[in-house]
Amino acid sequence: MKRLSFFPEQASTMAGQVDGLFLFLLGVTVFFSLLIAGLIVVFMVRFRRRPGVWPTEASEPTESLEGSFFLETFWSVVPFGITLVAFFWGASIYASLSLPPDDALVVNVVGKQWMWKFQHLEGRQEIDELHVPTGRPVRLHMTSEDVIHSFFVPAFRTKMDAVPGRYTAIWFEATKPGEYPLYCAEYCGTLHSGMIGRVIALEPTEFQAWLAGSAGGGNVPVAAAGERVYQAQGCPTCHEPRGDSARGPSLAGLAGTSVPLTGGGSVTADDGYLRESIVTPQAKLVAGYPPIMPTYQGLVSEEELMQLIAYIKSLSPSRAAERR
Ligand code: CUA
Repeated sequence: MKRLSFFPEQASTMAGQVDGLFLFLLGVTVFFSLLIAGLIVVFMVRFRRRPGVWPTEASEPTESLEGSFFLETFWSVVPFGITLVAFFWGASIYASLSLPPDDALVVNVVGKQWMWKFQHLEGRQEIDELHVPTGRPVRLHMTSEDVIHSFFVPAFRTKMDAVPGRYTAIWFEATKPGEYPLYCAEYCGTLHSGMIGRVIALEPTEFQAWLAGSAGGGNVPVAAAGERVYQAQGCPTCHEPRGDSARGPSLAGLAGTSVPLTGGGSVTADDGYLRESIVTPQAKLVAGYPPIMPTYQGLVSEEELMQLIAYIKSLSPSRAAERR
């Protein structure tokens, strides 16, 4: 089957499970298609109209058939059971694909017409190529700079949309070193078909060496790059006030906490909220602060937003405690 290329290579921990479910669904489909088509042919032959056997006069009434309670129940319960198996099996795979392990390596991904941009937390950046270690879960933290793209690595059975204005996540664990094709699986404009790249899975030691290397200049870790943006955009002026003139709330310890809002209610300061508060600050105002923050839409790129958020998270005492 592999030689005939019906399936892409299986190169992640989830690939076997996804294929198992697919083969089950394919098997069920083939079985019932053959059964029903076969029965149609058998019944056509067996119950064909024969001279003298069945009524020939159109006026004669045909036989009246009572239903069979057993049969009706049988062919309702069996398909119900099969669909439930498919549902729970699919839901369990979906759940494991949606919940990255805690020790996953994080890579920031920005989709853009028509390229994939990656940044590792240690700072190394790449375009249309993603280096990952084998034997370790990798979580992609994704967004898009323009339209919806979809990150698709067939060998990993991994596919997730990159959506503008929102963060999505997917994870995988590569099982063997190699190069695997990466596609954009969402029509995103004229060069959609050219939005391709490759994922390069390396042995962990080789990966560490690759991560430390750099095409030119040093690698600036994501959070440190975020601090540069933070300073360059003048954020400290309002968020680190000297004296009592607090024009904006302090950002230290903010990430992950519950923020009370003007007009009641509260919101958890997750990545989505932090991003929204930078791009459209008036959307959810922190209680007790005036609506004076200008928008940073267009002033900071999606990569810079990810870096800024990483920096804000690094300011969090709870997060610092978690790392220890
Ligand atoms: Cu990006 Cu299709």
